[in-house]
Amino acid sequence: MQSYTEKSAGLKRILVLNGPNLNLLGTREPEIYGKTTLNDINEMLKTRAKNIGVDEINFLQSNFEGELVEAIQKARGRYDFILLNAAALTHYSIALRDAIAAIPVPVIEIHLSNIHKREEFRHNSVIAPVVIGQICGFGADGYIAALEIAVRKLERDAK
Ligand code: DQA
Repeated sequence: MQSYTEKSAGLKRILVLNGPNLNLLGTREPEIYGKTTLNDINEMLKTRAKNIGVDEINFLQSNFEGELVEAIQKARGRYDFILLNAAALTHYSIALRDAIAAIPVPVIEIHLSNIHKREEFRHNSVIAPVVIGQICGFGADGYIAALEIAVRKLERDAK
């Protein structure tokens, strides 16, 4: 799977990717996804990143599969970790899965909702086998948890 041989010398550069419809967070099915907007989540991540010594954190939300595939391809050598909520693409995008498998940058899969206790079509994640791990069901806190895990892992691996 992912190899750590291409990692940069101790740098902590994080890319946060969000997939289709996550630009609507805050108003989209708030009973499932909460009232926090994507901008709120990104601001929380920026603040936390600063406090825990992240060198760089950048954000991309896209409703287009190809744009996310390209962002993942370009992350090679540019970022040290990817935090990814692939939204609906999680359940069917082999292109996204293949992009993740093609690069050595480790990925944490995030979902606001617990996909395992929702409709059956959400139970399967085609990206799960090619990511480090999955965090789901904790709302916006899942992004913060993922960031902290990524930083801890990078620090441990740098030693
Ligand atoms: C989601 C879960 C997906 O099933 C859904 O298609 C989304 C959001 C989540 O964050 O809970 O768009 O990824």
